[in-house]
Amino acid sequence: MTTLLDDPLDAAALLRAGALVAFATETVYGLGADARNGTAVAAIFEAKGRPHFNPLICHFPDAESAWAEVRADGRALALAAAFWPGPLTLVLPRRADCRIDLLAGAGLDTLAVRVPAHDGALALLRAAAIPIAAPSANRSGRISPTTSAHVISELGGRIAAVLEGGDCAVGLESTVLDLAGGGAVLLRPGGVPVEAIEAVIGPVGRPLPLHAGPAPTLRSPGMMLSHYAPSLPLRLNATEVGGDEALLAFGPPLPGAARVFQLSESRDLTEAASRLFAGLRALDELGVCGIAAMPVPGEGLGPAIRDRLIRAAEPKN
Ligand code: TXA
Ligand code: MG
Repeated sequence: MTTLLDDPLDAAALLRAGALVAFATETVYGLGADARNGTAVAAIFEAKGRPHFNPLICHFPDAESAWAEVRADGRALALAAAFWPGPLTLVLPRRADCRIDLLAGAGLDTLAVRVPAHDGALALLRAAAIPIAAPSANRSGRISPTTSAHVISELGGRIAAVLEGGDCAVGLESTVLDLAGGGAVLLRPGGVPVEAIEAVIGPVGRPLPLHAGPAPTLRSPGMMLSHYAPSLPLRLNATEVGGDEALLAFGPPLPGAARVFQLSESRDLTEAASRLFAGLRALDELGVCGIAAMPVPGEGLGPAIRDRLIRAAEPKN
């Protein structure tokens, strides 16, 4: 039985007791566990059915509590001041006295940390007063959930509770930035556009484009292709739509499309990001032969949306 909770205090008590609780953030719902507790962290991988121990993001109520576990440099301080609470995850070196279980960090000497911008999540993190490890609350290889109903359909019966937190405002995951080496490297485009980060700390390295080689998977396992997969084939940059296809529209729908999910009629990238995963899910359930996705521009949140679409289009195995 998975309970739907309204009170962050109830959710915090469960987390402190080692249970798994999903909760809303501004990006997507996370599947939370006490990050210090190896058994609780292992239960995350079990519930998600993850084939590998990917490193997880640790969530904190404020920057100071994050800095107790990782070493922040000037760039991290500046980025936290600019974007936290918010959809930016920083990968930083673990402190020698870091309390986070090694499995949560997949045995790496770095840790991904963030402070989410969601009142319910912050109330939960404050009440729990422990670092909370939380990957997206979907089964492995599936679309990240942006409503409590999505979480129940993914993980109902496998986790103790879901803290109701409404629809996620950003709708795609946080930007992951690696500051642990010399330079700053973008590991995953997400809710904070990379241009906004560069305005604070200067140039950010982008790894090779997704199809140019094998390198990115090594640094950030979450960059695996076919990571946000609907079960239907997805066609990118569609300029026409087949009779047996559903259309993921951005702006005025292509002529002839019978079944349409509109990301943003007015071509607003923020609105489109917030509706992306819900749209993929909705079209996936229609019983059509495939999904045609209209092109999305490359500025602002566009690259993060394109990144998720490219992964969703990758053949499943
Ligand atoms: O918006 C989000 O970030 C959501 C919400 C729940 O906060 N969480 C999320 O977690 O998307 P997850 O586990 O699905 O993705 C974590 C990403 C992966 O790409 C992972 O490889 C990367 O962060 N990551 C975590 N720790 C890392 C580390 N030490 N070094 C490099 N990459 C790391
Ligand atoms: Mg995920």
